[in-house]
Amino acid sequence: MSRHLITSAIPYINGIKHLGNLVGSQLPADLFARYQRARGNEVLFLCATDEHGTPAELAAAKAGKPVAEYCAEMWEVQSEIAEGFGLSFDHFGRSSSDQNKKLTQHFAKVLDDAGLIREVSETQMYSHTDGRFLPDRYIEGTCPNCGFDSARGDQCDNCTKQLDPVDLINPHSTISGSTDLEMRETKHLYLRQSAMKDKLEEWIDTREGWPVLTTSIAKKWLNDGDGLQDRGITRDLDWGVPVMRGDQPWPGMEGKVFYVWFDAPIEYIACSQEWVDAGKGSDWERWWRTDKGADDVTYTQFMGKDNVPFHTLSFPATILGSGEPWKLVDYIKSFNYLNYDGGQFSTSRGRGVFMDQALEILPADYWRWWLLANVPETSDSEFTWEQFQSGVNKDLADVLGNFVSRITKFCRSKFGEAVPEGGAFGAQEETLIADLTAKIRAYEGFMEEKEIRKAAQELRGIWVAGNEYLQAAAPWSTFKTDPDLAAAQVRLGLNLIRLYAVLAAPFIPATSEAMLTAMQTDNNDWPDDVNAALTTLPAGHAFTVPDVLFAKITDDQREEWQARFAGVRG
Ligand code: MF3
Ligand code: ZN
Repeated sequence: MSRHLITSAIPYINGIKHLGNLVGSQLPADLFARYQRARGNEVLFLCATDEHGTPAELAAAKAGKPVAEYCAEMWEVQSEIAEGFGLSFDHFGRSSSDQNKKLTQHFAKVLDDAGLIREVSETQMYSHTDGRFLPDRYIEGTCPNCGFDSARGDQCDNCTKQLDPVDLINPHSTISGSTDLEMRETKHLYLRQSAMKDKLEEWIDTREGWPVLTTSIAKKWLNDGDGLQDRGITRDLDWGVPVMRGDQPWPGMEGKVFYVWFDAPIEYIACSQEWVDAGKGSDWERWWRTDKGADDVTYTQFMGKDNVPFHTLSFPATILGSGEPWKLVDYIKSFNYLNYDGGQFSTSRGRGVFMDQALEILPADYWRWWLLANVPETSDSEFTWEQFQSGVNKDLADVLGNFVSRITKFCRSKFGEAVPEGGAFGAQEETLIADLTAKIRAYEGFMEEKEIRKAAQELRGIWVAGNEYLQAAAPWSTFKTDPDLAAAQVRLGLNLIRLYAVLAAPFIPATSEAMLTAMQTDNNDWPDDVNAALTTLPAGHAFTVPDVLFAKITDDQREEWQARFAGVRG
């Protein structure tokens, strides 16, 4: 039995995620976690909300709520939707937890002890009225380039020019509206990533079999321009992890918090402490400390490509720089983008289908199957309603659903609702078993390699093989001439339903449950031996004909949804 630590990039707290977010981290991570559990391995699967930073403050302000209250509510919402999608986290944590605060402050201290933090003096806009330094996007004014009167301190949304707050004409605070601003000197902490460049490069270069998408992005950041830059890890915000040196105050850093990208990945570790503190586990260190048994853990991270630099460089810089025996990631699975109907999904513009809306119109498994089978693995991919409709109707309704319905209904009409006895497998059945064995071994290989599209294709092939067998064996004809042979064929078919439920569970867990329930079994043993797996349900074992597993998506539905989700979310 091997041990798998699995994390999904932690979604920002500000709002419900769209299907593009889902397919780029949480969903493939869930697929892998479910697969590893199904193979009998020990899994710790963690995710959380990423709660700090300006986006959280701004979203809370927009909702007219104190930011802590806003985050607590949005955590509930995200957590419930995750459950709705069958995301099987062992714990869904919060980066604002006490555990993460302490651990983040601890890392800052040990990095400082190692000489990897330096203090940098900068001048920054200070608001007398607000009594605080303002982050760039909390300042607005007139764009010196195009004259747009609500340009932000970091960028003009009208002409897209990158700006510095001092460039703005008539700058004012977006918090209070005050123009009583001045440039003042303030200090910030910088992580000396440049000092760790060689170490990081060596680490990246010795990673074997990593996806090109992951290593090419890492190498680009390591070597582009001036190479790896030192990175400011503090910000002038109210909401975040207060800058402390362990549990001691950090002189000159009063009122500042750590940068959200410094504390967010540390939450991967803190989340396992939350998991223990919530009474769901007993020992987090054996997953994270190589001096406490984490040496034999395989750690896999899942994320979108925009997250790769933070996971290949910044977070490893924190881990390696600490000089402490923390577990480093073994494999980073990264994804391209899923586009929506000729454009991009966009949270800020409300474009596309969001997770809550998806569950309002169809059960999770429809989405899980299509999204995973079309995951943007080697290039960006696109969601269109036509392709969604045809994928669901063909794979789920025509192939899997139809197989289950045909065999159970035929059995009920000729033999009753129990596995029929008599007869024996012949040449046709032996051929099918050999074919399935090869396909299942290939499926396992793709799942281990996290080749998700290939795994989905193989699984579809496994379903198709059953349908083709049924078509060729034709027990409805055999029954007239050789009822014993028909009984053996139907027995095989019913056992195939259980086998399919087990194999498909990582993709479509709720349907898989429904299939096992219909077969009145909770035996979900992995088919190491296909021959044996196909005799699991013995003659006489009762079953029920399940309700339709997947309803076809009609053209009317497709058109309705297409129209409903064409605009922006209200
Ligand atoms: N919140 C980030 C995003 O959605 C991901 C953070 S991942 C972690 O892009 F490493 F910071 F945890
Ligand atoms: Zn402009």
